Amino acid sequence: MRMKRSSLFAASALLQNVTASVGAEEIASLFEEASLDRQKFWAKQAECIEWFHPWQETLRWKAPYAEWFVEGKLNASYNCLDRHMKSETRYKTALIWEGERGENRSFTYEELFLEVNKFSNVLKNLGVKKGDRIAIYLPMIPEAVVAMLSSARIGAVHTVIFGGFSAEALKDRIVDAEAKILITADGAYRKGKVIPLKSTTDQALLDAPSIESVIVIENVSNKPLMKEGRDYWYADLMKEAKEYAAPEIMDAEDMLFILYTSGTTGKPKGIVHTTGGYLVGATMTTKLVFGSDPKDIYWCTADVGWITGHSYVVYGPLSNGMTQLIYEGAADFPERNRFWKLIEKHKVTILYTAPTAIRTFMKWGEEWPSSCDLSSLRLLGSVGEPINPEAWLWYYNHIGQAKCPIADTWWQTETGSIMVAPIASYTPLKPGSATFPLPGIEMAIIDDSGKEASSGYLVIKSPWPSMLRGIYNDPLRYKETYWKKWDGEYYFTGDGATKDDEGYFWLMGRVDDVINVSGHRLGTMEIESALVDYPLVAEAAVIAIAHPIKGQAVVAFVTLKDKALKEPFLEDALKEHVVVKIGSIARPEKIIFTADLPKTRSGKIMRRLLRDIAEGRVVGDVTTLADPQVMREIQLQYKEEND
Ligand code: WTA
Repeated sequence: MRMKRSSLFAASALLQNVTASVGAEEIASLFEEASLDRQKFWAKQAECIEWFHPWQETLRWKAPYAEWFVEGKLNASYNCLDRHMKSETRYKTALIWEGERGENRSFTYEELFLEVNKFSNVLKNLGVKKGDRIAIYLPMIPEAVVAMLSSARIGAVHTVIFGGFSAEALKDRIVDAEAKILITADGAYRKGKVIPLKSTTDQALLDAPSIESVIVIENVSNKPLMKEGRDYWYADLMKEAKEYAAPEIMDAEDMLFILYTSGTTGKPKGIVHTTGGYLVGATMTTKLVFGSDPKDIYWCTADVGWITGHSYVVYGPLSNGMTQLIYEGAADFPERNRFWKLIEKHKVTILYTAPTAIRTFMKWGEEWPSSCDLSSLRLLGSVGEPINPEAWLWYYNHIGQAKCPIADTWWQTETGSIMVAPIASYTPLKPGSATFPLPGIEMAIIDDSGKEASSGYLVIKSPWPSMLRGIYNDPLRYKETYWKKWDGEYYFTGDGATKDDEGYFWLMGRVDDVINVSGHRLGTMEIESALVDYPLVAEAAVIAIAHPIKGQAVVAFVTLKDKALKEPFLEDALKEHVVVKIGSIARPEKIIFTADLPKTRSGKIMRRLLRDIAEGRVVGDVTTLADPQVMREIQLQYKEEND
């Protein structure tokens, strides 16, 4: 999908105009300071938040374990709320919420402060102590933000589970984190329908004994069943709660949250982030990438169930005292211009969304945005997957009206905050490139032997404050996944990248068994485990193929047990089974039933060869296969199923 270089440069020249040099000197000096002394640079950046006690040492690094701002004491909720009580920000709007049916609620910083304090007391009254885990399974309503900040306030550890995950996926995460409390809602609205979150929760809790209490927010009023002695209504508990809860004094390295993400095995990884470094990273990058005009109305469309929702809906914007919009609902409800109507109505100045959404909007046509007033916008952002130049230019022209720079931001759940991105007033843009690493971030592209190359694996060369501190309950996996490939010398992102002759980074997507469907990370093994869990399935191999809207789509090759017949219902039944095990984001696009799978002599499934078939390429080297004949049969089968 890459555009020809000549057109890239033409577009880039055009963009020089809009990226005029506001604060350019200041930004240049940030890069300069970071390159001269990275630790000194970060020590200075850490002043972007308030500390109860200063740290003694900026970084203690014993590869691959980092401690940042050693012995510093702080509280993340204090930084997002209490510190604004001392300035005019107290009276500023923090959250503007819009529901799918057009309802609005808003909170000033002071109102949010009061709500969080009360809810912190609710949690304490239910026996939550520092270090306890709290699971949050909510739609995009203000209480999701309240729940996260309250957990942080009392020193608990939140683990937010995306509301689209199934009961089984929810249960797995609760069990792994041994969460004590679950915060959910009666339901969520999606395209005019009610999704009964509470009943999904009840199903998950049949097998999650660590949960002692469930707090339910009334959002859709569908009168769910409430279990006596376990389930409580949020509103009832809030009525009895005291108004102030002192923020817990947290160590910089105390855990702030666990967020589960997919990896290359069947089991999701609980990525651990701690308080000090994470908050410095989220706060500093929000300001650097999105700017700090106090009049901004910022809208990040990510759900709090993903890292983007953590860093760029909750911690980064609130710590910076920004005003932001959050929306619970679909982009095409009631019509395909809902996003543009929201921007027009709330005068949004910064929009941060995902390429998959942009491609969907492209498909729907520019008549939808062009019928709305988008003149309030000043900056656009993109995150979650590579943005192809066509989508980039469409976003630039039809949403940004050829006047808003686009910040294509590369980062991961593990990195905690943005790593590679342009700085709007400074970096000349190229459509489709995330441009350069931010100051203080040292990245490289290397080959198998660890030598720097213009094309290869994307690695991070030195520790950064918001880096993950480990995988919950699985220290070995932390080392093996991220540090083993080059003996602890580099952090391996799992992504491939190239660098052009001007040093611009072009991110190419995953090079491991992780796939990215509509910006959501899924492990091929995770979907395979779900498929083989179906009683008639013997084996499964999952690959991703290019998809015009979703970026990638899931294709599964499945072999059935000996006596099983390939009944017509089976394809749908298997797709549904994956939805039940994981959630609808993992639903396979296609299932191909084959008699066998291509395996090496040691039994490893060669997914690469299956990708060749599915993407219609000449099939690669089959000589290492135990039975090369298998490929011919799969090819025939694939052709038959697609004709
Ligand atoms: C991909 C999302 C290209 C990448 C913040 C990464 C991107 C994975 C970009 C992390 C981008 C994210 N350009 N690829 N701007 N942003 N990715 O953990 O493959 O949900 O490894 O974090 O998304 O996904 P995650």
